[in-house]
Amino acid sequence: MHESKFWMKKDLVLLIDALQGIPSLPDSSLDLVIADPPYGLGKDYGNDSDKKTAKDFLDWMEKWLLLMIPKLKDSGSLYIFTTWRYSPEIFVFLKQQMLMINEIIWDRKVPSMGGTTRKYSSVHDTIGFFAKTKKYYFDLDSIRIPYDAKTKKARTRSIFVGQKWLELGYNPKDVWSISRLHRLHAERFDHPTQKPLEIIERMVKASCPPNGIVLDPFAGAGTTVEACIRNKRHYIAFEINKQYFDIIQKRVLKAKAESQSVFPFKT
Ligand SMILES: C[S@@+](CC[C@H](N)C(=O)[O-])C[C@H]1O[C@@H](n2cnc3c(N)ncnc32)[C@H](O)[C@@H]1O
Repeated sequence: MHESKFWMKKDLVLLIDALQGIPSLPDSSLDLVIADPPYGLGKDYGNDSDKKTAKDFLDWMEKWLLLMIPKLKDSGSLYIFTTWRYSPEIFVFLKQQMLMINEIIWDRKVPSMGGTTRKYSSVHDTIGFFAKTKKYYFDLDSIRIPYDAKTKKARTRSIFVGQKWLELGYNPKDVWSISRLHRLHAERFDHPTQKPLEIIERMVKASCPPNGIVLDPFAGAGTTVEACIRNKRHYIAFEINKQYFDIIQKRVLKAKAESQSVFPFKT
């Protein structure tokens, strides 16, 4: 019933359960899915969404993933945030449906300050990067990391001169050390597990072509939406919590206003 509505308007934020929203999208329509679902660890998102038993959590993950995969184009891909607790089960399941391209470790750069005493402190999130087919879109040049002048100079041996990686920058590795957003961080909205824009922008630039469509089924404070606006990609975002949905609306207006002052972008 929603299908034609969705398709007429590509930039969309809906207050809706992902399990209802995903089936309404046309098959083979998405370039990229960035999914940051509840981790199954009992977080309070103002609802019971993260209060499932392990079995119910994994059943639910499989359910929405199976609904989502046909919505990706053949060139499409998926980034899924999770933790070491459930990444083994989730990745084994996904490897039967898609091609696993990377396991990315997000090192949250947590300061060293004591912490747990009966095990090692866990300071990373696990991100699975999966593609629908071997033809997946990936624009490495858009996410290269330029060398600072000193390092570049140190590598200027004759065999390196003119190398693309030296001139334009090297490709990001699979460990991403990017500080989490502490409570007073300038980027921070009132959401408990908001992700840094730098992480999501890297995914959007590398894995969605300009003007392509990104789905975020668990939008939270709308980091994916902001990354899309800033980088001229279209977005569809679902969120079930009205408070977070309202944050996203405000964020859209702010991001559009700021992007317009940099370049005229019509959404
Ligand atoms: C980990 S947070 C996402 C954070 C987001 N990536 C950001 O940077 O702000 C997960 C979000 O999913 C929402 N959520 C949980 N179950 C959902 C469902 N079935 N459909 C849509 N949203 C859901 C929660 O309310 C929460 O805001």
